[in-house]
Amino acid sequence: MAQTFETIMSYPAADRELAKKAIDDAIRIIQGDLSIFTSKFPSSNSFGGFYEATENVEWTTGFWTGSIWLAYEYTKDDALKKAAEVQVDSFFERIRDKIDVNHHDMGFLFSLSCVAAYKLTGNEKAKEAALLAANHLAERYRENGSFLQAWGNVGEASEYRLIIDCLLNLPILYWASEVTGNKQYAQKAENHIKTAMNCILREDDSTYHTYFIDMETGKPSYGVTHQGNRNHSAWARGQAWGIYGIALSYHYLRDESYIQLFERVTDFFLRHLPEDLIPYWDFDFDTGSTEPRDSSAAAIAVCGMLEMAKYLDDEKRKKYTDAANRLLYALIHKCGNRDQNQSNGLLLHGTYARDSKENTCKDRGVDECNTWGDYFYMEALTRTLSDWKMYW
Ligand code: GLY
Repeated sequence: MAQTFETIMSYPAADRELAKKAIDDAIRIIQGDLSIFTSKFPSSNSFGGFYEATENVEWTTGFWTGSIWLAYEYTKDDALKKAAEVQVDSFFERIRDKIDVNHHDMGFLFSLSCVAAYKLTGNEKAKEAALLAANHLAERYRENGSFLQAWGNVGEASEYRLIIDCLLNLPILYWASEVTGNKQYAQKAENHIKTAMNCILREDDSTYHTYFIDMETGKPSYGVTHQGNRNHSAWARGQAWGIYGIALSYHYLRDESYIQLFERVTDFFLRHLPEDLIPYWDFDFDTGSTEPRDSSAAAIAVCGMLEMAKYLDDEKRKKYTDAANRLLYALIHKCGNRDQNQSNGLLLHGTYARDSKENTCKDRGVDECNTWGDYFYMEALTRTLSDWKMYW
């Protein structure tokens, strides 16, 4: 079904009381998980509802530490702070020893763990780790094409591309410029988002997941999907990364042209939501489909709308805040976990990856929790309950 802004307004909205109950449930689960996940981390996605314990690897471990920091901010429970600090030490070692960091996801990993620690507690080791991570990410910047290369060895022809997810990795570069006074980090981030938005946003306001850049000319070459259903479809989480990514760059750069970009990407997302407001994993699918949902895409979009709403005129602020509160209500009621015997995650019904003819993925974490869905759910609740100062 095609949603309009008016149809979305006919749904119930989350309010403080509902958000408070939901965050209490979520924090109880986080506190219960600490005994397993302090020196170890939860796997990227759950298996039959339960995360397994892993080392500090992949792009996803920072979401767990970020969730702990959010729970600590809300409760001031010292046990949460101590657990997050154990993990900050692990992140320091990870970047010092370059463990599983040959990719662009330094923001996902280090903004939510180490920048958060530095902002909340003044932890200098966390600041050092986050700056090492920012340096590492900045090294992935390719002058020829003006973008941050997402994956693989930098400068390798078969990997010369950007991906929409990278917009969430830019804030660590803006932050690094702020704390060091070196403007080059932010310049690279700004160049990257300009290049990215020039090629990944289609005329119908949907987005490509990844876009190859011609190594000879530095010009955008062609878009393909990695995790979406088709090269030319709109992967729901990719579209959500676009929403929040644009809002975060706006926060740092205040470039007025981003407002229209935000509206285009967000309105596409809202227009294509199914009847119950929980997106399928790709917008190729709509109400009645048997394909799985990706609740994490909705949680990311809520955070993006609530962040961008701060900078908009009254009418638009109301529009996106109202929409965010409707999505949050749907998430709490349809995906919020309240039962530790059912799952040790917070947000049910996510999809990490789904096999399709045109993508290169195998099914992974289908109809499961994932650590980023949990994190953005916590962040959305925190934003609803307080004037939250971002870790990003
Ligand atoms: N950034 C990878 C993903 O969203 O799956």
